[in-house]
Amino acid sequence: MADLEGNAAAKRFQPDTPPAQFIHKIRGASNLDWGMQNRLGRIFNPSTGRTVMLAFDHGYFQGPTSGLERIDLDIAPLESCVDALMCTRGAARTSIPPATQAGLVLRASGGPSVLKELSDEYVALSMSDAVRMNADAVAVQVFIGGENESRSVHNLTTLVDAGLEVGIPVLGVTAVGRDLTRDTRYLGLATRIIAELGAQIVKTYYCEEDFDHVVAACPVPVIMAGGKKLPELDALTMASRAIGAGAAGVDMGRNIFQSAHPAAMIQAVRAVVHDDVSPKDAYDEYRSCVDVGSRIQ
Ligand code: R5P
Repeated sequence: MADLEGNAAAKRFQPDTPPAQFIHKIRGASNLDWGMQNRLGRIFNPSTGRTVMLAFDHGYFQGPTSGLERIDLDIAPLESCVDALMCTRGAARTSIPPATQAGLVLRASGGPSVLKELSDEYVALSMSDAVRMNADAVAVQVFIGGENESRSVHNLTTLVDAGLEVGIPVLGVTAVGRDLTRDTRYLGLATRIIAELGAQIVKTYYCEEDFDHVVAACPVPVIMAGGKKLPELDALTMASRAIGAGAAGVDMGRNIFQSAHPAAMIQAVRAVVHDDVSPKDAYDEYRSCVDVGSRIQ
């Protein structure tokens, strides 16, 4: 039965109070549809506007990389420590608990293995399967200046169009080919092209010189790729510099899962990304987690 009495008593209309404004800290997101903003909010921590994403999609072109031999045993236990997971649908379906609360970014391009020309990629995931898996974004390599540049750009725009139809953002990854340098000019070019063609997030490598210019010229969040394994303090220093230059987080793989202590390394990266802790203090935190762990064992 309708609540006629309750309706009659309604009086908290507050006509002098302006409508609440929900301000997203995610760059360039305020004109996106609610569903897409909601998904971005599962990747970027709403209070800091930043993300710590764990990349373990390497198997899609290089097979069982060191540290990823058993995703079910070595990566699945880390899912609750990060804001988002970046992986293939095969890895997620077989090896990640479906009840995970981490954001899910699915690898959506592929084709060649490490044995072939890497830029020869096609779209490798339908948007309907991304929806079925409740993905929060899909990721695509873009090979600016590469042998198959136009095709990889077409892969990006195809996914952006399909993503806009269902409210799934696209993470465009600046893929650096063998002959391309990771300098400010190149990364500025690649990140800007990817954002202008519609990606809602861009992932790129860090460069020492003027990374803040790369970030400033990109109208969507830039997240820093990790790259090859470095000593922990160096990786934390790189992450801290990227954040200081305006990056909205990190998407690190080998520097986490190839660390001797991946969970401790994630905590240290989180301290740098979300709490602006200095690399030295974050490294001390890493060392103390490791020391406690070894005492418990
Ligand atoms: C980019 O090329 C792919 O997504 C990689 O598999 C992944 O991002 C690499 O992560 P990292 O360089 O931090 O190991």
